[in-house]
Amino acid sequence: MSNVPADAERLKSLGITGLRFLEETGSTNDDALVWAEQGAADGCLVVADAQTRGRGRLDRRWVTAPGAALAMSLVLRPSPAEAAQAGLFAGLGAVAVTEALEQGWGLKPQIKWPNDVLLGGQKVCGILAEASWSGSQLQAVVLGIGVNVAPSSVPPQDELLFPATCIEAAAGRTVERQEVLERIVEQLFVWRPALGSAEFLEAWNRRLAFRGEAVQIVMPGYNITGEVMEVDPAGGLRLRRRDGNVETVLAGDVHLRPAGNGR
Ligand code: BTN
Repeated sequence: MSNVPADAERLKSLGITGLRFLEETGSTNDDALVWAEQGAADGCLVVADAQTRGRGRLDRRWVTAPGAALAMSLVLRPSPAEAAQAGLFAGLGAVAVTEALEQGWGLKPQIKWPNDVLLGGQKVCGILAEASWSGSQLQAVVLGIGVNVAPSSVPPQDELLFPATCIEAAAGRTVERQEVLERIVEQLFVWRPALGSAEFLEAWNRRLAFRGEAVQIVMPGYNITGEVMEVDPAGGLRLRRRDGNVETVLAGDVHLRPAGNGR
């Protein structure tokens, strides 16, 4: 991704207000959170070629090998209306990534609730939205997105809880990370004004993985099984239990897996 600084103008034209490109860093989310505390404006972006201790959901790690994957974190300064639905920003990332993969490479991605993107049932992208608060005031949201682009970005399967893939494997050709970055940024700014709208929910639900299938939601000390119905306006997952009752699970400390699957 050595061409990122040269394409700063293109990113600016898509809505990026400040860019930090790092050859190597611990975590672009950490960098973006620090930058936000130092006053980074809405639309500031951190991109790294290599990430040595990237953070995933549920305290997992997300390491990015040089030259193979996209690790990006976008600083957002939510408006009051956005702040009232800040829990949807990870979904915004998932919708933007799926749109980018469809439009750019004709792929058929799905969104594994709450915020993974799958290609052919395997994880290609993880999203981690983190908030920065001052008391009860939301100061910023950092939207971190990690995408496996080349085969060397895919961790060995025995290290994974869920099978993984990369864009190049699905597309069957070489893919430029700069193009992945630009397409995702473009879609983030296209979809951001629609956050929480019926159109946004429809875009999310249309790609929802395991719809109509039985899944298990694993929560700390508690699991539930049900059939995936849809994502609700707050970003929760509606499940139909075996007794016919509908239960909504909120995103958070949860993990979804196909029912009957030990992973
Ligand atoms: C997950 O699947 O658990 C979420 C993974 C999120 C990884 C991305 S890579 C860019 C950004 N920086 C981080 O430290 N994490 C996110």
